[in-house]
Amino acid sequence: MASERPLVIVTRKLPDVVETRLRELFDARLNLDDKPFSRDELIAAVKEANVLVPTVTDRIDRSVLSQAGPELKLIAQFGTGVDNIDLDTARNRAVLVTNTPGVLTEDTADMTMALILAVPRRLTEGAALLKSGSDKWQGWSPTWMLGHRIYGKRLGIVGMGRIGQAVARRARAFGLQIHYHNRRRVQAEIEQTLEATYWDSLDQMLARMDIISINCPHTPATYHLLSARRLALLKPSAYIVNTARGEVIDENALARMIENNELAGAGLDVFEHEPAVNPKLLRNDKVVVLPHMSSATLEGRVDMGEKVIVNIKTFLDGHAPPDRVHPAMF
Ligand code: 8YV
Repeated sequence: MASERPLVIVTRKLPDVVETRLRELFDARLNLDDKPFSRDELIAAVKEANVLVPTVTDRIDRSVLSQAGPELKLIAQFGTGVDNIDLDTARNRAVLVTNTPGVLTEDTADMTMALILAVPRRLTEGAALLKSGSDKWQGWSPTWMLGHRIYGKRLGIVGMGRIGQAVARRARAFGLQIHYHNRRRVQAEIEQTLEATYWDSLDQMLARMDIISINCPHTPATYHLLSARRLALLKPSAYIVNTARGEVIDENALARMIENNELAGAGLDVFEHEPAVNPKLLRNDKVVVLPHMSSATLEGRVDMGEKVIVNIKTFLDGHAPPDRVHPAMF
C-alpha cells in the first residue's frame, strides 16, 4: 500500500542519525550515494515532493520552481545561506522556505579565526614546505618564513550578524581591534562588549583595516560588494578572509591584485563559481584555500539535520516552523 506519509526528498547524503530520524517520521527519499542532483532530477523532485530538503549545491531557481507540483509546500534548506533558492518565486507559489541558522555559528567563526591566523603567519606554506621533502628545511634562521603579527591589528568585519559577532569575540581574545560595517548598527551593549567601532561607510572602513573578514550573506545587494573598486581601497598590506560566499568578492579582481602585490594575501573557504577555483588563487602561496568546509563538523551537520527535522515536523503539524525565511531578511 502506498505511504500516506508526506514525501520528503533529500538531495544529498546527510549524517546517518539524521537520515534515520527522517525515515522514522516521513516518507523520506534519501540520496545515499550523495551524487548531486542534475537539473532534471531537481525538477522531478519538486514536481513530486511535499517537502524538498536541498543544500547549497542545488540551484532552485525560477525555472525549477515554476515546474513545482501543487503538493510542494516546503523547502527545508539544509544550510543557513539560502542564496541557491529563488525566494521571491517560492513566495509567489506559496512555498515556504526554512533554513538552519545558529547551529553553524561557532564552527564557522572558528574556521574564520583559523584563517585570520593562518594567512599572515604563513601556516599552510610552512607546513606544506616541510612535508614536501626533508631537504627543504636547513634549520632555523632568524629571517626565514617571516609573517606578520596579528596582535594589535585592526579587523574589519563585513556583516555583523551571528557569525560576525562570534568572529569578533574570538578576535578580541587575540588582541585584534574590532571594526565593522553592517546594514544596521548593532545594539549598543553588543558594540560595548566587543569594543567594536561601527562604520556606516564600507569604503572608509576598508581603507583603514589590516584584515577584512566577510561574514554577510550573499544577496543581490551584496553580490560583488567587494568589487574591484572597493578592493583597491584596501591597503597593499591588508589581508582578506572569506567564509561567507564567494559571490560577495569579485574573485578575478582579488586574484589579480594578490598576484600584483596590491594585497598581502587571502584566506578563502568559498568561491564565486564553486567547485571551480580561480587558478591564480590556487598557485599563490599568499592565498590559503579551503573547500567550503567552515561549518564541516559532525556535530554541526547533526544539529543542522535536527533543525531541518523540527522545521518540517512543525510545518506539517500545522504550526509556524521556527526557522522560516522571509525574503526581506536577505
Ligand atoms: C553549509 C553554508 O555547509 O549553511 C551555509 O550557508 O555555507 C555551509 O556552511 C552549506 O551551505 C549547506 O547547505
